[in-house]
Amino acid sequence: MRLDGKVCVIAGAGSPRGIGYATAKLFSQHGAIVVLTDIVMTDGLVDGLREEIGDPAAPAPVGIRCDITDYVQCEAMMDDVVARFGRFDCLINSAGIVDGRPFLEIDDAMFDRMSTVNLKGSFNLCKAALRVFNANRSGVIVNISSAAAQRGGGLVGAAHYAASKGGVISLTRAIAREFGPRGIRANVICPAMIETDMLNGVNEEQQKSIVEAIPLRRLGTPEELAGTCLFLASDFSGFITGATIDVNGGTHIH
Ligand SMILES: NC(=O)c1ccc[n+]([C@@H]2O[C@H](COP(=O)([O-])OP(=O)(O)OC[C@H]3O[C@@H](n4cnc5c(N)ncnc54)[C@H](O)[C@@H]3O)[C@@H](O)[C@H]2O)c1
Repeated sequence: MRLDGKVCVIAGAGSPRGIGYATAKLFSQHGAIVVLTDIVMTDGLVDGLREEIGDPAAPAPVGIRCDITDYVQCEAMMDDVVARFGRFDCLINSAGIVDGRPFLEIDDAMFDRMSTVNLKGSFNLCKAALRVFNANRSGVIVNISSAAAQRGGGLVGAAHYAASKGGVISLTRAIAREFGPRGIRANVICPAMIETDMLNGVNEEQQKSIVEAIPLRRLGTPEELAGTCLFLASDFSGFITGATIDVNGGTHIH
């Protein structure tokens, strides 16, 4: 078991087809006590995950609703986790929104919304987690950015999405630098074209032409992202911090 007894908060775990949910499942299978959090959270989702794990001996996952744009909610959620389990070891931040409209159609409200959820939301979650990690002198953060941040959008997310995700890379690097001396690691993953609800707006024809341009000639799976999160959360990556990990099938090689 790679994460035996570790308490892991996974933000953006509210969609059964999403990266966060797949990560929650894999982490549970590796012995973690998993806290799923999302702006959309139901008992049914957590019960469904428990059934999918299918191991009565595995620690029961827990769901806590939290809007990551509100720092107060993030802090209350983390406090709840520490109160329930007496420890908190790892934050995976997979919450986010996407939008693909052309630059000149991005209005103030849309730009602000994108920045508030993707960038400020990441800041809120990391800050709320780091209060605990800093006191404990240990902890792991994995943020999910996007290949859009590296290549200037151009797939599903447009300029406002790419910019918000670029901020997530910078934020993660700054955390790694500032909190490394406290024994805390922070890394960021840049995925591209993972088969989740985030691709719902892409029609079949668009998807086909996108896949033709991916060296591995297929979309990625949420499970492949979950595997990367597991590596980064576990001691196998104990000397890795401030890294940007590409999980993109070769879409962006640099
Ligand atoms: N799917 C891809 O191809 C792809 C590519 C690059 C990056 N990503 C990133 O991966 C992450 C996971 O995306 P996914 O593909 O699993 O899509 P998803 O839509 O299934 O997951 C995103 C989750 O974030 C939640 N969320 C949105 N706003 C929130 C808020 N204010 N507070 C709390 N939760 C909120 C949603 O409810 C949803 O469950 C996102 O950050 C996304 O930008 C995905």
